[in-house]
Amino acid sequence: MTTDYTSSQTNAISKLFHQGEGDSNLSKNRLLWEAGSKNDIEGRKLIEQDNQYFIHQSLSTPCLAVAKKVEGIWVEDTAGRRFMDFHGNNAHHIGYAHPKLAQAIKDQIDELPFAPRRFTDAPAVELAKKISELAPGDNNKVLFATGGSDAIDMAMKLARAATGRHKTISFWDSFHGAGFGGLAVGGESLFRNNMGPMLSGSEHVAPFACYRCPYGYDDNNGAPDLDVCKMTCANMLRYVMEKEKEVAAVIAEPVRAVPYIPPPGFWKAIREVCNDMGTLLIFDEIPNGLGKTGSMFVSEQFDVMPDITVIGKALGGGMLPIAAMIVRPELNILSTQALGHYTHEKNPITTRAALTTIEIIEEEGLVENARVVGLHALERLNEMKERHPIIGNVAGLGLCIGIDLVSNRKDKTPASDIADRVMYRCLNNGLSFKTTMGNILTLTPPLIVTKDQMDQALNIIEEAIIVETSE
Ligand SMILES: Cc1ncc(COP(=O)(O)O)c(C=O)c1O
Repeated sequence: MTTDYTSSQTNAISKLFHQGEGDSNLSKNRLLWEAGSKNDIEGRKLIEQDNQYFIHQSLSTPCLAVAKKVEGIWVEDTAGRRFMDFHGNNAHHIGYAHPKLAQAIKDQIDELPFAPRRFTDAPAVELAKKISELAPGDNNKVLFATGGSDAIDMAMKLARAATGRHKTISFWDSFHGAGFGGLAVGGESLFRNNMGPMLSGSEHVAPFACYRCPYGYDDNNGAPDLDVCKMTCANMLRYVMEKEKEVAAVIAEPVRAVPYIPPPGFWKAIREVCNDMGTLLIFDEIPNGLGKTGSMFVSEQFDVMPDITVIGKALGGGMLPIAAMIVRPELNILSTQALGHYTHEKNPITTRAALTTIEIIEEEGLVENARVVGLHALERLNEMKERHPIIGNVAGLGLCIGIDLVSNRKDKTPASDIADRVMYRCLNNGLSFKTTMGNILTLTPPLIVTKDQMDQALNIIEEAIIVETSE
């Protein structure tokens, strides 16, 4: 046992857990896994100390194993167990411990490790130039922050300043960061509960989620019939914007990393509403930008130009924290005010890491690999769906893939307990991923994953499904 809780306490606590962003670290399956887990002495000791010194929180502490080495798609723990990492916090696009990145960071530390305010530096400028050249359309002004949540705050502040309005519209069930800005526009009780009043004017609507359409329409086996549903999710967004009036920004992940993929035409319709109403469109591409979905920016998939894009996570190559906000040149309007001004805004080491990460993504053709291996995975998963009634739905774009487990295909009852058990069985067999919304096996491997590795992972999942559904 590595937690302070008895199992009856855990059962009670897990009932309070709000399924959303990830799996609970207090579920009974988690406890069982821990009890049967063969953590070594070094591992057990560190887990105990982690448990002792860190504030306990959902999704993080207590932990279940200790990372000793990461390389490519692999995480190895102190007990010598190796896991293919199909989660990686979406930070490991180029694979772990990429030698070119490690060398670039080491060299940068020797050359110039920091630049205080009033000074710029070559890596920061080169990165700004590179991102503005890469970003779609004329979005070519950037600002860096040390994490996604901070970058989301910068985007929200800029939208307020640019429009003279303060309201936002975002989706229930969304996640945009753990700071107060991200909390307010986010839609997950896991983060919002007990936090008191959110930012006023943070309005929410139900998300696009065709398989589980909040408006009750049938997803028509993955091909929503827009003649029937009339894209109510987009219409409701327009309706709320019209009622609220004076909305500064719509903020959303263009593809929610569950994943939820919008129905065809959704973002074009929302872009139009935003244009009509003088509202900015902010795309949070923190987990899915930089190639995950099979295009460098997610917005390219929908041929829609946001006013502001936020990227992060993988930008630091799975080694360092850095995020960026990219905006239209007309939004460069706050020269007499501080918008970000974070201590490490132009840190030469983090910016060198980001620059090198983008180079690696380009040189190794990782965006194309994500597209090709992602399509292969979807094909295989759809075959698996034919064989296993527990798979209610398969969704994905590039290497952001979800397998929705249901106890009954007709009423789509989420099979959350089985999903949790499948996850732990996969972990036993060397594959790590997270569940989202309780019952969706969410696979987000690094962009370097090969077709063979993907097949290996899908075999592990299929075997786990077979065992867990026959018990
Ligand atoms: C969609 C989305 N937005 C924002 C964030 C926050 O980023 P960070 O954890 O770097 O603050 C995350 C992190 O998981 C995310 O998935």
